[in-house]
Amino acid sequence: MSYKLEPEDIGVNTAKELSLTEIVERAIKVNQGRRNVLKSGAGLAALSIFGLNACGSDGSVAATAPANTDVAFAAASTSSGDAVVVPDGYVAEILYRWGDPCVAGSPAFAGDLSETSAVAEQQSGDNHDAINFFPFKNADGTERSDVGLLCINHEYINPEYYYNKVVGDSTVPFTFEDARKGQAGHGVSIIEVMRNSNGTWTVNRNSTFNRRIHGNTPIDITGPARGNALLQTAADPTGTRVLGTLNNCGAGITPWGTYITCEENFNGYFGWTDPTFTRNALEARYGLSQNGFGYRWHESDPRFDISMNRNEPNRHGWVVEIDPFRPASTPKKRTALGRFKHENAELVIDPITKKVVVYMGCDERFEYVYKFVSDAAYDENNMAANADILDAGTLYVAQFNDDGTAGDGVGVGTWIPLVHGQNGLTTANGYIDQADVLIRTRQAASTVGATPMDRPEWLAANPNKPGEVFVTLTNNSARTAGQVNEANPRANNIYGHIIRINETNEDATGTTFDWNIFLLAGDTGQELFNSPDGLQFDRLGRLWVQTDGNFTNANAFAGHGNNQMLVADLEAGTVQRFLVGPSGCEVTGVTWTPDMRTMFVDIQHPGEVGNTHPNGINPATGTRYTDADLVADPTAFSTWPDGATASRPRSGTIVVRRTDGGIIGT
Ligand code: FEO
Ligand code: CA
Ligand code: CA
Repeated sequence: MSYKLEPEDIGVNTAKELSLTEIVERAIKVNQGRRNVLKSGAGLAALSIFGLNACGSDGSVAATAPANTDVAFAAASTSSGDAVVVPDGYVAEILYRWGDPCVAGSPAFAGDLSETSAVAEQQSGDNHDAINFFPFKNADGTERSDVGLLCINHEYINPEYYYNKVVGDSTVPFTFEDARKGQAGHGVSIIEVMRNSNGTWTVNRNSTFNRRIHGNTPIDITGPARGNALLQTAADPTGTRVLGTLNNCGAGITPWGTYITCEENFNGYFGWTDPTFTRNALEARYGLSQNGFGYRWHESDPRFDISMNRNEPNRHGWVVEIDPFRPASTPKKRTALGRFKHENAELVIDPITKKVVVYMGCDERFEYVYKFVSDAAYDENNMAANADILDAGTLYVAQFNDDGTAGDGVGVGTWIPLVHGQNGLTTANGYIDQADVLIRTRQAASTVGATPMDRPEWLAANPNKPGEVFVTLTNNSARTAGQVNEANPRANNIYGHIIRINETNEDATGTTFDWNIFLLAGDTGQELFNSPDGLQFDRLGRLWVQTDGNFTNANAFAGHGNNQMLVADLEAGTVQRFLVGPSGCEVTGVTWTPDMRTMFVDIQHPGEVGNTHPNGINPATGTRYTDADLVADPTAFSTWPDGATASRPRSGTIVVRRTDGGIIGT
């Protein structure tokens, strides 16, 4: 079900929050099958690696997770409808849609797309993706669950809904202002949100924390590649400050209170107008092409024309650190974490060495899994000392090997350092220095012999087991029978799978690991789904899986329905469906308040017809809706989330909660 939320006149609940102890004890009462509740010791140590979402800031109480079999809700049914489906006893309410006011004073969404680019830079961007809740704290340092900041990624735009013109028709004029407005739809929103006394949530539209970071926001370049010749442009001859962050897909959080957002398919925004231009090996490896993904920015904005600004693409494809509590701060692109099509950035603190470890995937067929290990140790007593800790460390890429027993889905692995001068990353082989290695991370990873994977998406670290990390491999229809290996066991992998990694001796800073196939999606005798993508542990240790896949609900995908979110059982390797999204959407990004009574989920690109949705056929033509059809009638396929009052479908953040106010999933 979907709802429209406009609770402008409802008060804010400032009641004292339950402690984590109380939360767990209540969870036990509602489910006597729960086990392993601890109040100190190993549970606390494990939780401490998980950063802000892992433990109360008072540090006084911790608990190991309930087993995932302890989740207690009636699984949601599959759906091909145009609504959010949640289990009985839950509600899903829209909170923050594309075009909604973000910055204080911003106008409301016009609905007819009459906003200028300058106005769009003050409103919510499009295609919500990763999301993280940063709770406000009480005077005693405890976290609040009724007020905080949400950081929300805006990955891309859907031109068929974003413009009153068919952008894909090259005969239709596309102006510089059009390009600027498209750039405004990208980046990050930071909004203050408040829980009302009846459990619903409201955006505080006057908050001074509210901020839009978009495709033209100044961002510093930091780390080893800062100032490198390949990052220098005419507009920025020092190679130290770039405009904008684009294609912000997954993200992560740090225990020092910042948000790390990831630039994924940046290549799609670039093109070239000079027909004689020829791309080099670097540009080819990162997928730059003459017309990109059809956004047409390069036609009117020379920054995106690589025949005029050759180095501009090199300034994208990084992880960007943002301090949401300092609205005037300049975001930083952290080049030490490498340049590739970053999916998310899962950060843990190694409990022994206190080093910062960031797990990352590069989402493209046959690309790699990475991790970064900081040189310095995290200082939990001096947050300011951690501000630039992501600028110095070692980037590794994963090699997944068999363990000698073929066909059992179990193996061993090695983290290979991407360090200039080592493992073939030498001057003789064309790598100039460490900055060059980082700008050309993909090529460096190939040089050292990393294992090509079936599209690495999100990685998620188990808060209850140091050194345990899961990674979604979303799908890879291009893998042939001859390319199958132990870690990528299916040719024509249309469903995807999830691998569990266990670092040797639980040491996240180490260079070896064991791994096993945790789950093969698709037709493996459990809830039907395909293309696992978003992946997130909650603080109770439950693993939530989100999908971005084939929603035909037919043939090989019969019974899968729309994209969805499920909860995984870590022991059994099974899943239970919790939520299904509306027509044409992807479900991506999830976060919770510390009391686990509110879940925020992003619904991305409702109404994106793709090639396949069962309701995506235009009855007037008998073929799927074209962009021209949708420009002429933007509500023909989806009206989510606004229903009868919709001018067009709009990506958005929803609030999911229990009608009895209980803990989500129990
Ligand atoms: Fe933006 Fe790979 O998902
Ligand atoms: Ca094996
Ligand atoms: Ca994704």
